[in-house]
Amino acid sequence: MLVRLFFFILFLLFLDYYLFSSISSLFNRSILSKRIFSTFYWFLSFAIYFIIYYVFINYEKRTPSVHFNNDIIISTLIFMILFSKLLALFPLIIDDFLRFLRFVFSLFSNRGSSFVGVKISRFDFLQKLSVFLGSTLFVTLLSGVLFGRYNFKVKKTKIKIKNWNSIINGLKIVQISDLHLGSFNSIEKLEEVVEIINEQKPDIFVFTGDLVNNYFTEAVPYINTLGKIKAKYGKFSVLGNHDYCDYVGWKRNSDKWNNNFTSMINIHKKMGFDLLMNESRIIKISDASFNIVGVENWGSGNFNKDGDLTLAMKEIDMNQPTILLSHDPSHWTSQVLNFEKNIDLQLAGHTHGMQFGIDTSHLKWSPVKARYKQWSGLYTKFKKHIYVNTGIGHLGYAGRVGIMPEISVLELYS
Ligand SMILES: [Fe+2]
Ligand SMILES: [Fe+2]
Repeated sequence: MLVRLFFFILFLLFLDYYLFSSISSLFNRSILSKRIFSTFYWFLSFAIYFIIYYVFINYEKRTPSVHFNNDIIISTLIFMILFSKLLALFPLIIDDFLRFLRFVFSLFSNRGSSFVGVKISRFDFLQKLSVFLGSTLFVTLLSGVLFGRYNFKVKKTKIKIKNWNSIINGLKIVQISDLHLGSFNSIEKLEEVVEIINEQKPDIFVFTGDLVNNYFTEAVPYINTLGKIKAKYGKFSVLGNHDYCDYVGWKRNSDKWNNNFTSMINIHKKMGFDLLMNESRIIKISDASFNIVGVENWGSGNFNKDGDLTLAMKEIDMNQPTILLSHDPSHWTSQVLNFEKNIDLQLAGHTHGMQFGIDTSHLKWSPVKARYKQWSGLYTKFKKHIYVNTGIGHLGYAGRVGIMPEISVLELYS
C-alpha cells in the first residue's frame, strides 16, 4: 500500500512540475512576483502531499467519534485544489500537442538543417486559458462551499399513480436523502431542515438512505433534531450503501461490524423512523390504502446488494398501489421496473447530483448523468415512476454548485 501511495504522490509531483513549469513564465514580470508565485505554489503542493500521506497512514488508527468531524474541510480543500489543477492542465496538454505538430512541421520545412536548439514557444492564449480555467473552477468550488452547502431548496412535484384512490388525492410525501451526518457538521442547519419539513405538513415522511458516511456514531448528535420531524401517517426509512460501514476495512459479521450495524438500526428507532429492511407496511386512510415497501441497499456494479425485493414484496396487498423506498436508482432499471409485482413509484437518492451541475426548469445537467440515467427528479416508463432526490448532505466535497440540497415534496394523484 505504501508503494502505491509513493507512486501516487510521485504522479502528483510530476503533474505539479508540468503545470508549474508551463505557467510560471506568466509570473516572470519581476523577480519578486516570480518568487511569490513559486513559493506559494510549492508550499501548497507539498502541504497537500503531506496531508494525503498523513490521512492515509492514520486511516486505520482513527477511532469513530461522536464529535464533529473536521476531516471534511481538509478533504474539501484537497478536492478543490486538485480538480482546479487538473482542469488547468487541459489547455497545456493541447498546447504541447500543437507544439509537437509545429516541431514536426519545422523538421520538414527546414530539411537538412539541424533541429537541435529549435525552441517552440507556448501559445500565450492557451497558457492564460490554463490559469483562467484553474482559478475559475477554484473560485466556483469555493463559492459552492460558502453559498451552496446549506442552501436548502424545496422541490414540489405532482405524480399521477395508476389505481390511486381519488379520496386521497394530494397526499403529500416529504422526502429527504443522503444526510451523510459525518460531514454535515451543524445541528442548527439540521434544525432548519426539520423546520422546513414540518412547515410542509407531510402526510408521510421518508428518508432514503446514507444517514452516515461510515459509523453510527456520526448520527448520535443529531438524534433529537431528527426526532422532531412530524408526519400524519408515518415516518419511514431505508439504508443506503454508506450505512453498512463497508468502506473502513471492517469484515462483515466481525464483532465491531455487527455492533455498528445493530446500533445503526437502533438509531432509526430512536429517531422515530420505521426502518424498512426488506419489508412492507399497508397504509390505510379512510377507505383508501396503499403499500409502502422498503429494501436494504441494492446498487448495480460494485455496490452492495443486500436488498431483497421478493422478500420485501411478500406481504403487500396486490390490489393497491405500491411505493418502494430503495436508495440506489440503478435498482429501478435493473429489477424494479420488470418485477413480477407492480411497483408504481420508487423513491431513491444516492446520486447527490454529484453536488455539481445545472438544475433549472429548462436545463438539467450533471456529470453524474454519465453513470446514472435517473439522477434527479421524476422519470416515467410503462406508467411507472422513479423520483430521485439529489440529497441534503454532502460527501467528500463540503459544498454544492448548481445542485442544491433538496427537500422533495411529492403530491400523489389518481
Ligand atoms: Fe450518498
Ligand atoms: Fe449512496
